[in-house]
Amino acid sequence: MAVWLITGSSRGIGRAIAEVVLEAGHRAILTARNPALVADLLARYAGQAIALPLDVRERSQAFWIVETAIERGFTPNVLVNNAGYGLVGALEELSAESILRQVETNLLGVVWMCQAVIPHLRAQGGGFIFNVSSIAGYYGFKGTSLYNATKFAVTGLSEALAQELSGWGIYVANVAPGPYRTDWAGSSLEKSQALATLDPQSPYYELNAAMAQRYAAMDRQQPGDPTQIGRVLLDCVEKGWAPMHIILGDEARETWERYEPLRVFPQLQFVGHGRNEVKRPSEGTMRR
Ligand SMILES: NC(=O)c1ccc[n+]([C@@H]2O[C@H](COP(=O)([O-])OP(=O)(O)OC[C@H]3O[C@@H](n4cnc5c(N)ncnc54)[C@H](OP(=O)(O)O)[C@@H]3O)[C@@H](O)[C@H]2O)c1
Repeated sequence: MAVWLITGSSRGIGRAIAEVVLEAGHRAILTARNPALVADLLARYAGQAIALPLDVRERSQAFWIVETAIERGFTPNVLVNNAGYGLVGALEELSAESILRQVETNLLGVVWMCQAVIPHLRAQGGGFIFNVSSIAGYYGFKGTSLYNATKFAVTGLSEALAQELSGWGIYVANVAPGPYRTDWAGSSLEKSQALATLDPQSPYYELNAAMAQRYAAMDRQQPGDPTQIGRVLLDCVEKGWAPMHIILGDEARETWERYEPLRVFPQLQFVGHGRNEVKRPSEGTMRR
């Protein structure tokens, strides 16, 4: 049985993964900013799990929880980097604090946890790292630029890390859900002030109004059941193999298929550099 280390296991996808793997008899290190929120899981699966406090923005805490878990007999061989949230609003209307918090949580949190866990996976001769990105880690859309930026970064990190660690039998998978029923679009969603207040003076008023309506309609109505994500990851671990990219849910697949043409980079140009000559992209030679 594997030992899973799950970030953000208090709610949503992280909690659902925890329940699935514990129910299947695996062991788990449940981490949360407030570990009291997983006390019921510790009681239900007595001896199978421990809970430790972790804010993924804190690098030293990431190393501390890994060492503490090992001391308590829980050496992780599966890491699920799940903790994260959405920041939405027009880029120029996002505060510096919100931007930093989004990058520290969604991207640096993944980096710190990988750094803390990888030496132990290598020492054990293998393991799994599941980085929860998003379908928003493959396609960018107006109003979600910072969320897209962090999730694209996680996708890139996963792709590179999978190659870097393959020699040690460590599978790294980029896990990209579409919409799943969690608090993502509700209490967890951070909005720019102009979006939150629907500021009529904002040059982005129409975009903000459309987004406010979209997230209100989406909240808790998402088609995906997060338990399914747990089942997919459990299946990978029990089979001893994981694909590098896991796109989850029919809606994510539909999004993928609808926007696939964007990924062929219709405006791509290769611009060479002669020794004494500046070459510039020209409209006439644009690839279509
Ligand atoms: N639901 C979707 O439709 C969807 C789609 C694609 C990707 N995702 C991704 O899935 C992941 C989980 O989100 P969710 O849908 O389950 O949303 P959720 O219900 O809002 O849960 C988010 C979890 O992340 C934790 N978290 C946030 N910031 C943290 C921090 N600094 N340190 C530690 N934990 C932190 C939260 O802990 P607290 O309880 O302490 O706040 C909570 O456990 C996120 O990375 C999200 O971007 C979700």
